[in-house]
Amino acid sequence: IPVDDFDLVIFGATGDLAHRKILPGLFRRFKAGQFPATSRIIGAARTEQDDAAFQAEAAAAICDYTGTDKNDADLAEFLPLLGYVAIDAKGEGGWQELKSRMRPGAVHAFYFSVAPALFGDIAERLAGHGIAHDDSRIVVEKPFGRDLASARALNATLAKHFHEDQIYRIDHYLGKETVQNLMAVRFANVLFEPLWNAQYVDHVQITVAETVGVAGRGSYYDKSGAIRDMVQNHMMQLLCLIAMEPPYHFDPDAVRDEKLKVIRALQPVEPGDIVRGQYQGEGSDYLTDAEDPASRTESYVAMKVRISNWRWQGTPFYLRTGKKLRARTSEIAITFKAPPHSIFDDSGVPKANELVIRLQPNEGMNLKVMIKEPGPGGMRLVQVPLDMSFAEALGAEGADMPDAYERLIMDVIRGNQTLFMRGDEVEAAWAWTDPIINAWEDSKRQPEPYDSGSSGPDEALRLMHRDNRRWREIRS
Ligand code: BG6
Repeated sequence: IPVDDFDLVIFGATGDLAHRKILPGLFRRFKAGQFPATSRIIGAARTEQDDAAFQAEAAAAICDYTGTDKNDADLAEFLPLLGYVAIDAKGEGGWQELKSRMRPGAVHAFYFSVAPALFGDIAERLAGHGIAHDDSRIVVEKPFGRDLASARALNATLAKHFHEDQIYRIDHYLGKETVQNLMAVRFANVLFEPLWNAQYVDHVQITVAETVGVAGRGSYYDKSGAIRDMVQNHMMQLLCLIAMEPPYHFDPDAVRDEKLKVIRALQPVEPGDIVRGQYQGEGSDYLTDAEDPASRTESYVAMKVRISNWRWQGTPFYLRTGKKLRARTSEIAITFKAPPHSIFDDSGVPKANELVIRLQPNEGMNLKVMIKEPGPGGMRLVQVPLDMSFAEALGAEGADMPDAYERLIMDVIRGNQTLFMRGDEVEAAWAWTDPIINAWEDSKRQPEPYDSGSSGPDEALRLMHRDNRRWREIRS
């Protein structure tokens, strides 16, 4: 569905995120005919350059990241939509010029693709110069704070100039097709929801494994670590979508109210229920990548999480995420309880059903069910997969899934906040992670080393073994 005519200003337009995600994403949406060719995209950054130079910069980024040919006809139509204004977030130059470029009547959105320390300056100047209005939208990137206090301060700063319904806090995991599919699977089928509780679910595993390390972004990452970088936001969102009650409607506040209830029901994590790791190895060592030979920051974390509510009391959720692991894979595995009684005396105990939702790569679902092994040898049981790749099942439509950023930017223009984090949600997530981070900082322990290219530290295996469970293998 096409969106309305808009003016989108990208602060930090010469930066990495703009090059890698925002500009290529906008181009792909334009190519798909999703927005009117009257729309304007205005880059804003400190570099002094004119529209033509920015268009050339954007063209290079789009060709690099989308594989588009530089003579592509759509690209030639897209580039004239781009303009540029040199602005120093902390200075006064450029703001009037920006104001003069904004067209009355179009949707106005301002993307803050800059360091959070500049959010306040930009918000203040947008309001002070009369550029932003009550119906303008702002988009802010993570990290949204580094603890509860800083997130609160950031929310308060933005709230001085914008209402909550104008603020779009991005967690790009919510823009991933399969992450939204979690809601479709749960709430558009009758099959799963009756079993989706502690009575039938033994445990849940959420894995986000990456093969990349932190080289090149060590100075950011070393101050964050896996808990701040992945758990407080992306993993928490996945956990919420799996654990939440059915919202009464697929509506921004209804969905976010239910997610918030899950975060508030999380029990504090016991120190014995969490394992931190740091990758090591010849030519691929965290301490070298982080540029701090004494760093205690974790590049891997595994933890056992408990949700204290009627639905989930007694069903643990095991979360793990890490860099430099053996494969890139994100998945959610729901292991159901074994049947209460086996009628098949001499053929072994039926294994528990398992539903695996693959988020990336090869998005799809795999439900493991028991059937009879073929042949005349009596009633022998075997577990087989009911495996579905979304791309295959959907044919051509599935082959062209929009990138998370593309979808989210279009949602901003539509004015739909369902897939964005609300201020109270972000604060609640920090309120839960703060004690975990503080306890670690006080402990002065070193993270467990694990080999680059492995499945993570051995300690993480023990986290499961002591509960008589096993992690799923990490493989793509
Ligand atoms: C980002 C983190 O938010 O998400 C990165 O800062 C991480 O450290 C990335 O690599 C993972 O995103 P994706 O989409 O590649 O799974």
